[in-house]
Order: sequence, then structure tokens, then C-alpha cells
Amino acid sequence: MEMVDKNIEIVVAVDNRWAIGRGGGLLCHLREDLRHFKALTRGHTVVMGRRTFESLPAGPLPERQNIILTRDRSYAPRGAADNDRVVVAHDIDEALRLASMPEPIMIIGGAQIYRAAMPIARTLHITMIHHAFAGADVWFAPPRATEWTITRVEPHRGEADYDYDFVTYTRL
Ligand SMILES: NC(=O)c1ccc[n+]([C@@H]2O[C@H](COP(=O)([O-])OP(=O)(O)OC[C@H]3O[C@@H](n4cnc5c(N)ncnc54)[C@H](OP(=O)(O)O)[C@@H]3O)[C@@H](O)[C@H]2O)c1
Repeated sequence: MEMVDKNIEIVVAVDNRWAIGRGGGLLCHLREDLRHFKALTRGHTVVMGRRTFESLPAGPLPERQNIILTRDRSYAPRGAADNDRVVVAHDIDEALRLASMPEPIMIIGGAQIYRAAMPIARTLHITMIHHAFAGADVWFAPPRATEWTITRVEPHRGEADYDYDFVTYTRL
């Protein structure tokens, strides 16, 4: 693991083939998972890629500092003008420096940002949806058993459109 003294956690929902999205959006909208996401991230800084930010239906996430990663130095995110909790960063290190809400810093996607943050994350909050969605075009890299261990599994059966598990991975 790289030496980063901040507590960084990844939050992601995957299907049973580790897919996370299609056509620029999510695979499904599971109300229970959106609630779980909100509970995990509220009061913290969330870091996301420019594409994920632009896919948010209602703009910046409330009650959280939103840091948007882009390589575009002139990028002006929607909703930033009147909201000092919307911040742009141009690499992961800058995002971590700009994070100003209490840790953990929550990495909320998409695929490119998960890939960049995986080496520095300490915890993964993975919602595993028991379904294979057609048309997926972005994936999450499965955590390696040599680097991560499962420390908690919370199964949910017969409660929603799909069965799912909230699974917590902790870095070994
Ligand atoms: N299932 C889930 O939990 C979940 C969560 C989030 C997103 N998603 C899905 O994931 C998909 C989007 O993922 P994606 O991989 O296409 O896009 P993304 O990671 O959301 O955003 C990619 C953009 O981020 C910027 N970027 C990437 N790496 C960077 C770096 N190291 N430094 C600075 N900027 C960087 C670039 O922006 P510029 O092009 O502006 O330079 C790049 O185009 C969507 O389908 C979304 O719905 C799923």
C-alpha cells in the first residue's frame, strides 16, 4: 500500500459479474442501496470522476463535500458557483488535500476513479447485487484475496427487486 495517512474508503455497487454501470448510468436503482450509500457518505467528503458527477440526477450530493476529478483545467461543474462544497481537483493527491470534511474520505466512482484509489483505500463497502445486468460497459476490479479480507456480510433476501449483500472488505 502506498503511504497515505488519510482514511480512504471505497463505496460501490456491483452485479454478480462485478459490473458497475452502462451507458453512463447505474445498472439499477435499488432504493435500499441508495439509503445505505447516503448513510455511509453523509457528513464526509465524496470524491468522484467527472463522468459520474455529470450522471448525478440532482447535481451535487447534499450534506457532503463533493470533489470532482477532471484533467480539464477549465472545467466548471454544475452547481459549483453558489456552493462551496463543490470542488474540482486534477489528480487524486490534490483531491485528498482539498478534502475538508471529517474522514473517512469516500471514493464513489466511477471505474477510472476506483482504479486510481484502490491502492490507497483501507476499506471497501461493496453492495453485491445478485443479478447479471445486460449491456454493462464498466466494471470494478475484484479485490485480491492476497490484499483484502471480508470482515462483514449483511445479506438481504426477498426485500427488493434483487437480492443483495452489503459486504465490507478490509485491507490485510
Ligand atoms: N455502481 C456504482 O457503484 C457506480 C458508482 C459510480 C459510478 N458508476 C458508473 O460508472 C460509470 C462512470 O465511470 P467512468 O470510469 O466511465 O468515469 P468516471 O471515473 O466517473 O470519470 C472519468 C473521468 O474522471 C476524470 N479522471 C479520471 N482519472 C483521473 C485522474 N487520475 N486525475 C484527474 N481526473 C481523472 C476524467 O475527466 P475528464 O475527462 O474531464 O478529464 C475522466 O474522463 C457510469 O456508468 C456510472 O453510472 C457506478
